[in-house]
Amino acid sequence: MRVVPATVIVGLQWGDEGKGKTTDFLAEQVAMVVRYQGGDNAGHTVVSGDEVFKLHLVPSGVLYPHITSVIGSGVVVNPATLISELDMLTERGIDTGRVRVSTAAHVIMPYHVALDRAMENRLGDGKVGTTGRGIGPAYADRAWRVGLRMEDLLDGALCRAKLAGILPDKNLLLASHNGSHTFGVEELVDQAVAWGDRLRPHFADATWLVQDALRRGDHVLLEGAQGTLLDLDHGSYPFVTSSNPIAGGACTGGGIGPLQVDEVIGVMKAYSTRVGSGPYPTELTDAIGQGIASRGNEVGTTTGRPRRVGWFDAVPLRYAVAVNSVSSIMLNKLDILSGIDPIRMCVSYEIGGRRVEAWPSSATVLGGATPIYEEFAGWSEPINAVRSLGDLPENARRYVTALEEHAGVPIVLVSVGPERMQTIERAWRPMRHRPAPPTPAAAEVTR
Ligand code: IMP
Repeated sequence: MRVVPATVIVGLQWGDEGKGKTTDFLAEQVAMVVRYQGGDNAGHTVVSGDEVFKLHLVPSGVLYPHITSVIGSGVVVNPATLISELDMLTERGIDTGRVRVSTAAHVIMPYHVALDRAMENRLGDGKVGTTGRGIGPAYADRAWRVGLRMEDLLDGALCRAKLAGILPDKNLLLASHNGSHTFGVEELVDQAVAWGDRLRPHFADATWLVQDALRRGDHVLLEGAQGTLLDLDHGSYPFVTSSNPIAGGACTGGGIGPLQVDEVIGVMKAYSTRVGSGPYPTELTDAIGQGIASRGNEVGTTTGRPRRVGWFDAVPLRYAVAVNSVSSIMLNKLDILSGIDPIRMCVSYEIGGRRVEAWPSSATVLGGATPIYEEFAGWSEPINAVRSLGDLPENARRYVTALEEHAGVPIVLVSVGPERMQTIERAWRPMRHRPAPPTPAAAEVTR
């Protein structure tokens, strides 16, 4: 497979599509991997030989000695998580000398974590179901211009001045949530300075790092966390994360312009999963769903929560291809569907008595959507050893073809097992694709 200089990898569903495997699969050909948004709410599981690595912040390219792994300015960084991940990798013999973190990335402070959890508690049944990692409060402070950036950790006096200004408000808010712990300036300054000392060798101006790599003609992979349907602007708000996982987020969070992106690889699973609250039209709560969850090991990497599981939904797929300008797709976990007969795929919704083809991002509208399914005959044989599309059972090929038709772009990689080699690679030329807009009738209903 040929990878062009700036390639974005983006999740087309609600996260957990297996983007770590995609990055890992392409990593041999790239010089730099950049995480562009999110924080330690993400979890990448990468299987390398007999070893399993679970990473939350450090891009999965770190497993390759030739790759510079960059945490871009669009990421919110919990320094404690980053330090423990770097230590874990070092202990397991992985060189972390090429890990760089943007000095402009914002810091997740302990009060962000406390506020995230306290606010979720207060929401009760209406909670978002966050990962409790302080993501929302940290991004909120960034937008409010009262956040600490990584560069601030190198300046104790500056941290003290900033924290003295912010903490009274944070403590007041925390005190309003019964029994919450409050924070003192000096304990946090000590903590911040210790983090700065430890992470100093990894600090960089990530924007220039990426720009210089592109100027040299190096292949740069921009790796999104979470997925399109959790996007702050384009997901089903408020059941979303607080950043922009879509490909456009790679520009803001990675420091590149739209015309520098050559290829957008969308990643999706052969079925769907979702963690946390929010409408989920194709959710399966029966034995089929439980079977998929257990065979697919659908447990949150970060929180250990069981993921909700459902049939594949082609309605948000068409939306995700459009908003990300996806040019090719990696389909993961096709093997998990072996033995299910029939397999269903949602192709449109019925909303208010009308058939709707265009995904309504409004959580209220989506909550009233009834899926319209197409049925596919299943296949019973295991497919983990298959390495070419032609060797898949005919019914599996039909299913992949249907997915491709809905996407309107080629599926170039099909994963049939967790290991790097358990992947079907198709002949592939990068193509620029402009998806057709939704039909006017469909768009009308969702307004
Ligand atoms: P937050 O990002 O922790 O604020 O959580 C907001 C929503 O995004 C919740 O529904 C989480 O379950 C979901 N979420 C955040 N990160 C991930 C992820 O990596 N995979 C799947 N869902 C996620």
